[in-house]
Amino acid sequence: MRLDKYICQATSLTRSEAKKAINRGKLTCNGEEIRSGSYKLAEGETVFLEGKALSLRGPRYIMLNKPQGFICSNIDEQLPSIMNLIDVEKPEQLFIAGRLDADTTGLTLITDDGQWSHKVTSPRKKCAKRYRVTLAEPLPDNAIEQFKEGIQLKSENQPCLPATLIAISELAVLLTISEGKYHQVKRMFAAIGNHVESLHR
Ligand code: URA
Repeated sequence: MRLDKYICQATSLTRSEAKKAINRGKLTCNGEEIRSGSYKLAEGETVFLEGKALSLRGPRYIMLNKPQGFICSNIDEQLPSIMNLIDVEKPEQLFIAGRLDADTTGLTLITDDGQWSHKVTSPRKKCAKRYRVTLAEPLPDNAIEQFKEGIQLKSENQPCLPATLIAISELAVLLTISEGKYHQVKRMFAAIGNHVESLHR
């Protein structure tokens, strides 16, 4: 890896700050000052910034219990982004693996590991997601069967994959799904004539 790229990844310096540090002779490798950003680091070579050894951090994985009123976007829009709730270096390198609606609460995953994110969000990987749902109306007796068979959402060609529904009280259920269609849980209950009052993952 080039020295300038390495510094950006290993520290909180921006590209231009890294360039300045290199030009000012603050970087050493093997006891020698390196003044070129394009210097190619050899495998296992240690870089020192003002005498302090640098190292690359591993991928980052953050679990956030999302409150209501925040959106799962990297930037603020009409509502603030959940990224305001975490205090990390280089937040622009992170992205949200699987979104929740602004009014939904609960587990959101934030990472810079694209492969891992794909594993937890791709419908092909069938990663289970469990929601606690509060409903407007009690469920009909055959609801568990309907969810098991696959709910047909409005304006979708295929029914949803089988989902597991467990009643915890007259108006509260646990629903486990293995896909992540747009507003899926709300649309599943709308498809059987009900309405989601609150949703928590
Ligand atoms: N399904 C929804 O309808 N909303 C969410 O936030 C998550 C799943």
